[in-house]
This record gives sequence, structure tokens and C-alpha cells, in this order.
Amino acid sequence: MPDAPFSIRRETPADAAAVAALNDTVFGPGRFVRAAYRLREGVAPDLALSVVAELGGRVVGSVRMTPIRIGDHPAHLLGPLVVEPAHQNRGGGRSLVAAAVGNARAAGHGLILLVGDEPYYGPLGFRRVSTKDIVMPGPVDPQRLLVAELRAGAAEGLAGVVARAL
Ligand SMILES: CC(C)(COP(=O)(O)OP(=O)(O)OC[C@H]1O[C@@H](n2cnc3c(N)ncnc32)[C@H](O)[C@@H]1OP(=O)(O)O)[C@@H](O)C(=O)NCCC(=O)NCCS
Repeated sequence: MPDAPFSIRRETPADAAAVAALNDTVFGPGRFVRAAYRLREGVAPDLALSVVAELGGRVVGSVRMTPIRIGDHPAHLLGPLVVEPAHQNRGGGRSLVAAAVGNARAAGHGLILLVGDEPYYGPLGFRRVSTKDIVMPGPVDPQRLLVAELRAGAAEGLAGVVARAL
């Protein structure tokens, strides 16, 4: 099927309810116990980098970016990434990730971390990192801890505990 004409734009405060509803529908309450959620809890997403996908003026997709630290390195956590089930497999997810990564790069940020499937995120610039070097605040499948380096050398010496940004 050809890609649907999603309109990708930055998230605004007015999108909060629609984004929450989308995440409720797709992930359910189980999302609140995931390691990545612990990093996001009580921390506002960076709306300069987070984006939504609209169809017909309605929010049908979202990806958030939240500032974190990996040891001494400043970084952003990408996620949750979500597309409304009726509109999946039409390029919306990839467009959202590409836009969020592009926003981070344009803003001069160096690193993005996420917990997700390497076959999906690999072609979008992410690679696996060792859970021995990078310690999440909860259990994570070692195959699913991925980073993207936006500036050459930004991931040099990358190690330590992943924590909320100060
Ligand atoms: C994952 C998700 C955001 C992808 O969004 P989408 O708009 O459907 O994705 P795209 O259209 O950009 O890409 C679809 C392609 O990715 C593949 N894909 C989707 N999820 C995948 C995954 N977890 N691992 C590997 N490939 C995946 C599809 O099979 C499809 O492949 P094709 O292009 O060869 O047909 C969406 O399916 C979703 O919301 N899923 C439920 C929530 C979720 O799991 N979020 C990710 C958390 S890390």
C-alpha cells in the first residue's frame, strides 16, 4: 500500500490528551511498569523535538523525546512510538522517528537512546549497545537497547547509569 499522506508536525501542549489516549489504546496500563517509562515519569517531554502524525486534522501517531543522562553524557530517550492500529504499516512510524531524529540533530543534540526492535530502528540510524555498559533503571531485553549517534564522537566512552536529566 502506498504511504498515507500523514502530516508530521511538532507536538504542542494541546496534543497531550490525544497522545495519552493513543498510548492508552495501543499499550494499555502495562506501559507504566516498563524501564523506559521510569525515565519519563514526571519529566515533561521535549516539545521542541517530539512530533505527532495527523490525518484529516486528527492525531493518529506520536513519538516523544525526553531528556535523559547516560552516565555523564546528555541524551534523549525516544519513545513511546505509537501509530493508531487502523493506520499502521503506511510509513507513519518511520516518518515520526525520522522527524524526531532530524529535530534533535538540527538542535545540536548528540545522542538518542531507545528500547525497541533493532530490525525496525536499525535502518533509521540506531544500533545495539551493551546493557553491561549502559544500565537502565529496570530490566531490559539486551537485544533491544539501541542508540543513535547524531554527532561524530558523541557516543565515545558511552557508559553508566541511565537517569533522568537533572
Ligand atoms: C511500531 C509502530 C509504531 C510502527 O508504526 P507503523 O506506522 O506501522 O510503521 P511503518 O509503516 O513506518 O513501518 C512498517 C514496517 O515496519 C515493520 N515493523 C513494524 N513493527 C516492527 C517491529 N517491532 N520490528 C520489526 N519490524 C516492524 C512492519 O512489518 C512494516 O514492514 P514493511 O515496510 O516491510 O511492510 C506501530 O506498529 C505501533 O504503534 N505498534 C504498537 C506500539 C509499539 O510496539 N511501538 C513501538 C515501541 S518500541
